[in-house]
Amino acid sequence: MHDMPGHQIVVGVSGGIAAYKSPDLVRRLRELGHSVRVVMTPAASHFITPLTLQAVSGHPVRTDLFDPSAEAAMGHIELARWADMVLVAPATAHFLARLRQGMADDLLSTLCLATEAPVAAAPAMNRQMWLHPATQDNVSALTRRGVLLLGPDEGDQACGEIGPGRMLEPARIAGMVTERLLARGLLEGLGVLVTAGPTREPLDPVRFISNHSSGRMGYALAEAAAGAGARVTLVSGPTSLIAPARVEHVSVLTASEMRDAVMSRVGGASILIAAAAVADHRPAAYSERKIKKNGAGEAIALERTPDILAEVAGLSSRPFTVGFAAETDDIEANARSKLEAKALDLIAANRVDGPGTGFGSEDNALDVFWADGGTHLEYKPKRALAGELVALIAQHYRAAHPD
Ligand code: PMT
Repeated sequence: MHDMPGHQIVVGVSGGIAAYKSPDLVRRLRELGHSVRVVMTPAASHFITPLTLQAVSGHPVRTDLFDPSAEAAMGHIELARWADMVLVAPATAHFLARLRQGMADDLLSTLCLATEAPVAAAPAMNRQMWLHPATQDNVSALTRRGVLLLGPDEGDQACGEIGPGRMLEPARIAGMVTERLLARGLLEGLGVLVTAGPTREPLDPVRFISNHSSGRMGYALAEAAAGAGARVTLVSGPTSLIAPARVEHVSVLTASEMRDAVMSRVGGASILIAAAAVADHRPAAYSERKIKKNGAGEAIALERTPDILAEVAGLSSRPFTVGFAAETDDIEANARSKLEAKALDLIAANRVDGPGTGFGSEDNALDVFWADGGTHLEYKPKRALAGELVALIAQHYRAAHPD
């Protein structure tokens, strides 16, 4: 619990000219009720003094990983645990590169590695440095890893050039960070069950029917729901992904195993999000022995797999039920007919007819529908998109359960 209405934010200041805006950022965060501790990189003190940031934050500023007196007061691991968010502003090109590499050679980069809190970064640099493929590559890797990128802005730069690379104004950064932190409590204490990945339906010991789902969308949703305070269980078909922190991970192979895993846990869930691409069919017969080339007939007889989503939605005491729809055409009509046929609370439809969206991609866009409305969530990395979808689900869940 916090001793004040806001959250606990570590503001990291790295060495760029935009560091002159950091005191204003700290002041605005405190005005919004947050408690702030400042950590500077050694380079940052060329642009602004620790004393200035101490005055506006109301606490001594940390600069050194190996400062015995500061470590005695609040060790760096303790500081990493204290933080509800680590916000690096400004984040220079050099800092972003180090963050991407997972360096831990100063206090700020070490904190970013040691914390379980979300990390946000407000880049600030010359426009050529921002546009350089190395920086762009670092930024997209960091975004995929869940780092919240705030900006940069476009306009006049300290170096005299005009273009992208200016740090966002402190008031905007403070607002965006506050919004993100408020999302943390959205699903506080609720049980959320997420299905993800493909299922595999075996034909014999070496062959199976499956699909191209990577699990990314479902894993990102599990991570976002956990970030929003939920107790998350992720029931996943075979993927190469690592389960997010603070999420119970249940591995399954077939649609039937996924059904059993979901049905035995659904009692504890307030919300089900079915992002798995469950195979609709399985071979009607399983051969214990590898089917020989000559032994195979011309056709494989198939049968339907259990429809997990429909079964959950049909329960008399059911969770708030969110389905996905993988569509190639007539998105709204098809998604709405699934919404109605399965009596879902919400459905998120995505296109699966091209590269860069739906199955296997890093990014996605969603059209979300409910009985009397709908909205479009724009194309972006699945982790960022998942945060938006979870916020939308929480809003609808709360409207349906006002207590
Ligand atoms: O895993 P990624 O590579 O990140 O890709 C993400 C995704 C494209 C798989 C995901 O965004 C998605 O669309 N998942 C649902 C895919 C799908 O199977 O859609 P569908 O329209 O066939 O099924 C409709 C809904 O019923 C889905 O919520 C599905 O989980 C559920 N279903 C389907 C069949 C079945 N037997 N049981 C089910 O529960």
